[in-house]
Amino acid sequence: MGNHEIHCQYYSQEDLLGAGCLDIRMAMDAAESAMLAFQNGDVLFPEKIVQIFNDDTQERINCLPATFVKDKVCGVKWVSVFPPNPVKYGIQNLSAVIILSEIEHGFPIAFMEGTLCSNMRVGAMGGLAARHLARSDSKAIGFIGAGEQAKMHLIAMKTALPSLEVCRVAAKDPAEEAQFINEMGPILADMRFEGTQSDLEAAVSDADVIVTATSAQAPLLKAAWMKAGAFYSHVGGWEDEYAVAKQCDKIVCDDWETVKHRTQTLSRMYQDGELADTDIHGNLVDLLSGKLAGREKDEERTYFNAVGLAYADVAIAFAMYRRAREAGMGQDLKIQNEMIFEHAHLKDWVKL
Ligand SMILES: NC(=O)c1ccc[n+]([C@@H]2O[C@H](COP(=O)([O-])OP(=O)(O)OC[C@H]3O[C@@H](n4cnc5c(N)ncnc54)[C@H](O)[C@@H]3O)[C@@H](O)[C@H]2O)c1
Repeated sequence: MGNHEIHCQYYSQEDLLGAGCLDIRMAMDAAESAMLAFQNGDVLFPEKIVQIFNDDTQERINCLPATFVKDKVCGVKWVSVFPPNPVKYGIQNLSAVIILSEIEHGFPIAFMEGTLCSNMRVGAMGGLAARHLARSDSKAIGFIGAGEQAKMHLIAMKTALPSLEVCRVAAKDPAEEAQFINEMGPILADMRFEGTQSDLEAAVSDADVIVTATSAQAPLLKAAWMKAGAFYSHVGGWEDEYAVAKQCDKIVCDDWETVKHRTQTLSRMYQDGELADTDIHGNLVDLLSGKLAGREKDEERTYFNAVGLAYADVAIAFAMYRRAREAGMGQDLKIQNEMIFEHAHLKDWVKL
């Protein structure tokens, strides 16, 4: 009789952080390789499964699987999005867990907290876009929105653009700006931070890099505030007036065909006949592979919008798993000791 034990490793968010997994460079590398692997046909990426519990609030749980054939790893992100959470209960909107399995025997190898990975993926995609679309001498970054995505995006942008020196931030409530600065200041000690008391224009009008990451569904960012040469990373839903995209020289998406059918500003513009396929420069992978040029001139305005390619989450989770395993973090999670009918006491446990 063989050994029929099945184990996997469990990693809490703190295990992952303690193992050094909050490493945006690692996440950018994993996301870049994942996009190139997808383009080569080496990724299985079925449709996500969406279960919406409230049409008005869009409270939902999504199931997003992907397999990296060459890495022999299959994973799934199980992600809850409950938009009323912050206001109603003072708790986070998004929470996720990830399961990874090897595909030689099909057994699970890891069960891990997934919010960290999910937020790092959003930041990593923005960082990769910034590498190709922002001025490499960018000094000032301006945020509209000071929540979880904004914080991770700042780490990603500073990683992609080390020349950044000043960060200005505008949120709906100035207390959130103060919290953003309190939390991010110690992490990015060589950066100067300025709150703006909810003055959106002051946050972005001198910025070389603009990030909107809000829960608002309104045209907050005005075209007139985006200076020549600026790069804009659009993270949330509807956050900018149509004139922003219209004045940009290059618009790049993680996947334009997906963006088209969502509810982002670019999606709305497309659905309203205000934006055509030919107005889109390309997808991020085309810049990564060198098929298309990124920024070509200092004065270009560039626009990036990602709605999320969940296979990148699985790739980043796999990189985190390898790092955490190497660091000896996590706990052994026993799935089974032996096969069902091998249990000596099964006759005492079975209910007939
Ligand atoms: N593109 C992606 O792949 C992706 C992935 C995850 C989340 N998101 C989206 O990113 C957005 C931000 O998510 P989060 O987790 O950071 O949310 P959060 O709740 O932590 O933060 C939201 C921020 O929006 C700000 N805000 C809301 N209305 C505003 C207004 N009128 N003016 C100025 N600021 C305003 C709030 O002050 C807050 O700082 C959400 O829309 C979310 O759906 C996108």
